[in-house]
Amino acid sequence: MIFYFSGTGNSLWAAEKISIAQGQKLFSIADEIKKNNFEYTLDDSELVGFVFPIYAWNAPKMVVDFINKLKLKNYKANYTFAISTCEANVGYTMRNLKDTLNSKGLELDSGFSIAMPSNYIILTHVKSKTSIEAILDTAEERIEEINTSIDKRENKFEITLGHFPYIKSKLINPLFMKYGIKPKKFFASNSCISCGLCEKVCPTNNIKVDGKPKWGTNCTQCLACINRCPKKAIEYGKSTRDKGRYYNPRCKK
Ligand SMILES: Cc1cc2nc3c(=O)[nH]c(=O)nc-3n(C[C@H](O)[C@H](O)[C@H](O)COP(=O)(O)O)c2cc1C
Repeated sequence: MIFYFSGTGNSLWAAEKISIAQGQKLFSIADEIKKNNFEYTLDDSELVGFVFPIYAWNAPKMVVDFINKLKLKNYKANYTFAISTCEANVGYTMRNLKDTLNSKGLELDSGFSIAMPSNYIILTHVKSKTSIEAILDTAEERIEEINTSIDKRENKFEITLGHFPYIKSKLINPLFMKYGIKPKKFFASNSCISCGLCEKVCPTNNIKVDGKPKWGTNCTQCLACINRCPKKAIEYGKSTRDKGRYYNPRCKK
């Protein structure tokens, strides 16, 4: 079974490819949390996989919270892997994830990172279509390599750490979690047609569309709302003004 979290399709695209190649069931972490479902029964040969984006050099809080509540019945050291999609590097994400899993009596046998286009339009600009397609071509090859490693049940960690992983994952990440997520900064411009898509795609049920969308405080900053609005009507303060929006063009969901 493969558990995934994705705001803008990169991780979902990778998770779907791996789940098809490996013949594994796919579960959306956001949907499972909404259903309050944390218990799963494993077959002896079943894999356990986690696929998610990197947020400030760590796994999203939702993913960590989900794993902390996870109960895997019939777990017999089933081969377990994690894949993080990122723009550039992941710091000590896999080390932290391994600690979280170990504290629950679960192992992490392998970990991989895949470079994908950035969806963090608060700080970056969306790349050109040509660059996005080139990055996704390389990512597709990488997904195939990862599939081969999983086929062989390899025990390896192939990740782009980046410079100063300790500082990024252990010091900057907690600061980002405390001060970097400001849902009050989201607003909808007059282009908003009240279609309700932002409410539907929000993984934390943090948006209510009553006329215009309103944001609560439970934001994980996946940026699904802002990137997926069909009218580009959602902004985050002044940071996203006149910038493009990103959703993985190869992800069909
Ligand atoms: C809040 C936030 C923080 C991010 N932090 C990082 C980071 O630390 N390192 C990195 O390489 N990419 C970072 N990114 C980029 C995403 O990890 C990357 O685009 C990912 O593939 C998005 O996956 P998704 O489409 O499945 O949501 C960040 C994105 C967001 C929204």
